[in-house]
Formats: sequence, C-alpha cells, structure tokens
Amino acid sequence: MSAVNEKKVAALEAVKYIKSGMTIGLGTGSTAFYMIEAIGAMVQNGMELKAVATSNETEKLATKLGINVITLAEAKRLDVTIDGADEVDENFKLIKGGGGALLREKIVAHNSDLNIIIADSSKNVTKLGKFKLPIETIPFATQLITAELDGMGLSPVQRMRGTEDYKTDENNDIIDIDIWNTEIKLTDLEQQLKTIPGIVETGLFLTTTNLVIIGNGENAIVKKR
Ligand code: 5RP
Repeated sequence: MSAVNEKKVAALEAVKYIKSGMTIGLGTGSTAFYMIEAIGAMVQNGMELKAVATSNETEKLATKLGINVITLAEAKRLDVTIDGADEVDENFKLIKGGGGALLREKIVAHNSDLNIIIADSSKNVTKLGKFKLPIETIPFATQLITAELDGMGLSPVQRMRGTEDYKTDENNDIIDIDIWNTEIKLTDLEQQLKTIPGIVETGLFLTTTNLVIIGNGENAIVKKR
C-alpha cells in the first residue's frame, strides 16, 4: 500500500479520539493534512470543536474547512493534539520539523493532555537520525551557531528555499544537523543544544508522545506509551 494511503489510515484512526466539545491541536504536514480534512468533515456534520493550529499553513486549511481556529492563549489547555513526525522510534521518541513547524508543534504538544502521532510505516525506525534533525535558530545567531554545531561534529546545513534562507512562521532559520553517528544520549544532546544561545528549539520530541498510530498497509497499528 502506498505511503499516502497509510497516512490516511493513520489519520482516520486518530480522529476517533476526538469528541464533541474538545479543544484540539492540529499538526502540520502531509499526514496531518488527512487528519485536518477528516476533522473538517466531522465539523461539517455538526461536531463542536475549537482548534489551535501549529502553522500558518494548517490554520489556513482548517479555517477553509470550517474548523473554529483559536489562539493558544484562548485555548489555555488542549484535550488532544494530532500531529505527524519524520521519524518515530519504539520508545515514542520523535524527530519532527521536516515541515519547519517544530517550534509551535512542540509548544502545542507541551500544552496538550493527549498527544497522538500519526505516520506511514516508513517513519517507524529502530534508531533516530537517518532524517536530519531540524534546529530552529534566531537569524542574528545562525552563522555562529552553524560554526559551533560544526565543531561538535554535527554537519550542520542551513535550510534554504531556492536561493533564499528558509524562514519559519516565526521568521527564524532552520539548521538541519546529522545526529546519526553522535555518541551523545538524545536527552543530553537536547540539553546541550538548548544551552546554545540563539537555538530556539530542536526537532527532538522525547517525552510528549502518548500514542503512536502507524498506517501499515490497510491497518492502523496503535501503540500506547
Ligand atoms: C512539520 C512536521 C511534520 O509533522 C513532519 O515533517 C512530517 O511531515 P509529513 O507528514 O509531511 O511527512 O514535523 O514540522
């Protein structure tokens, strides 16, 4: 079965956790797209929901589908957030940020009672790091951070959009780093990266995920933490 179908299978399983009256978090990316589409249909069929979007792209899509998008400040706390991932390991640890929305995604995950990750089977890995880890940085510091990460052996590459620097919704930069061969434990790496001034957030999501739903052929595999 194609990755597209597996994404749909995972998304349709995940939206079963959404009940009328909830305030929910909406992730970003091509897998999240199918979840937002399904929630749009649920709202059109009368379900009452409020939603916080993790990116401008998601906000635009959700609004178009009639979903009531509110700010995180208005929501205060979210019942459920459903989001995609670039890699998921068997310990519910993730690499996210391929789509550049890692900062808002991590904030929303932190403020959510239940975090569900949806993915096609290609995202399931035994070890994180084949996918380059996105790091969001303040433009003022990006060049120096890149040099520092290079010194740590992490092969940093600033993300580009054509010939321009890639910019996040917060107008920050992204540096993609290679953690595949690092001997540093992920929790320590996360801590080390966060101590470098100018690094706003990393795409390592180590503790927030409660449920992973993987589309596997025609089936959804649900894993609870
Ligand atoms: C965006 C993300 C996405 O969830 C991640 O990149 C997966 O995207 P897709 O579902 O398109 O493969 O973290 O910042």
